[in-house]
Amino acid sequence: QKVVLAYSGGLDTSVILKWLAEKGFEIICYCANVGQEGEDFEAVRTKAINAGAVKVYIEDLREEFVKEYVFEAVKANAIYESRYMLGTSIARPCIAKRQVEIARMEGAKYVAHGATGKGNDQVRFEMCAQALDATITTIAPWREPEFIERFKGRSDLLAYAAQHNIPVSSTPKANYSIDENLYHTSYESGMLEDPACAYPESMFKMTVSPEAAPDTPEILRIEFDTGIPVKVTNLTDKTEKTGALELFLYLNQVAGRNGVGRIDIVENRFVGIKSRGVYETPGGTLLREAHLDLEGLCLDREVVRVRDTLSLEWARLCYNGFWFAPEMELVKNAMSFASKDVTGSVDVKCYKGNAIVVGRASPKSLYSADLASMEIESGGATIDYDPSDAQGFIRCNSTRLKAYNLLRGCPAAL
Ligand code: ARG
Ligand code: SIN
Repeated sequence: QKVVLAYSGGLDTSVILKWLAEKGFEIICYCANVGQEGEDFEAVRTKAINAGAVKVYIEDLREEFVKEYVFEAVKANAIYESRYMLGTSIARPCIAKRQVEIARMEGAKYVAHGATGKGNDQVRFEMCAQALDATITTIAPWREPEFIERFKGRSDLLAYAAQHNIPVSSTPKANYSIDENLYHTSYESGMLEDPACAYPESMFKMTVSPEAAPDTPEILRIEFDTGIPVKVTNLTDKTEKTGALELFLYLNQVAGRNGVGRIDIVENRFVGIKSRGVYETPGGTLLREAHLDLEGLCLDREVVRVRDTLSLEWARLCYNGFWFAPEMELVKNAMSFASKDVTGSVDVKCYKGNAIVVGRASPKSLYSADLASMEIESGGATIDYDPSDAQGFIRCNSTRLKAYNLLRGCPAAL
């Protein structure tokens, strides 16, 4: 029986590879390149073959990941529990989709992953696989009693690796779990399991600490077209970037060297467990600030209000693994519709951990300096607004408040 294993080259998935091979499976390894920094994919391929894989797919999903996942999240202002930028959550459907495609190409009836039985990732991988091909069965060794019985801790994995000549990186493994792509790096478990314990500075891969960031700021001009970033200009050194992937990687660089985008939170997993996680999302954090600001200029007030409720929905559906759900399709379409006029540019200053908007402009701006001005008492040039109408507006709006507070002893004039 063929199985397509989502393989990272790390200890866990290498042991899983061998274990599945021992069970008699024919293993096809699949390694998704979603922009893990400094990964040697050819070394991963060699390792998979040496451990007994019959075939290895190394798939470059970076462009697709940026365009169809990262930029969709930016367009939606997606954020989970007010802080988490969903860096792992958006990568899972991208990875799972290709895994299912490979399984179909290979005629494999099984897929396998190395996610634990306590996390979100198992839910995401498997919900996506079920949605895209319900005839495929997922094997999750970390939920198999036999596997858990055999591998109780890291020492069991190491012993098994040694016994089967699986090379283990000589640098001692960090005491936390890392999940990495070009949008974010996440760190959890191990020494981070105590939420009171501060993270080590040496952990981070994409950002410097705000303290270590330069004393002079950099200002970027980010241009959006219908809610999607299309061009970045560094106003400080004149660098220009276009093209989704190139532009996004450049934002990561600039935000990263200025210490932008770190968070340390306790979040609620879909399975009902609280989890402490540390995340760095440099380019994404910058884009979020810029995008929200441009919306302020271009979007109608009530569209923003309704869109805000959908942002929550987008984040919840994505976090919980409902990427390929009909309601997600509805929300994504609504986001695109809401973004039809979100076109223009935003200037953002990166400075010691902060992304500070300093200016914005748009051909679709709804802002009227005439209307907003405190100086001119007459109405706007194109829209009729009479300040004296505001008196009645206030009176009508306070009717309910008078009734409510009358009951609480506040005097009401007749
Ligand atoms: N808690 C994050 C999420 O559910 C990240 C999960 C994966 N992270 C990890 N270090 N293994 O999206
Ligand atoms: C895991 O459990 O495999 C990683 C964490 C998560 O999925 O939430």
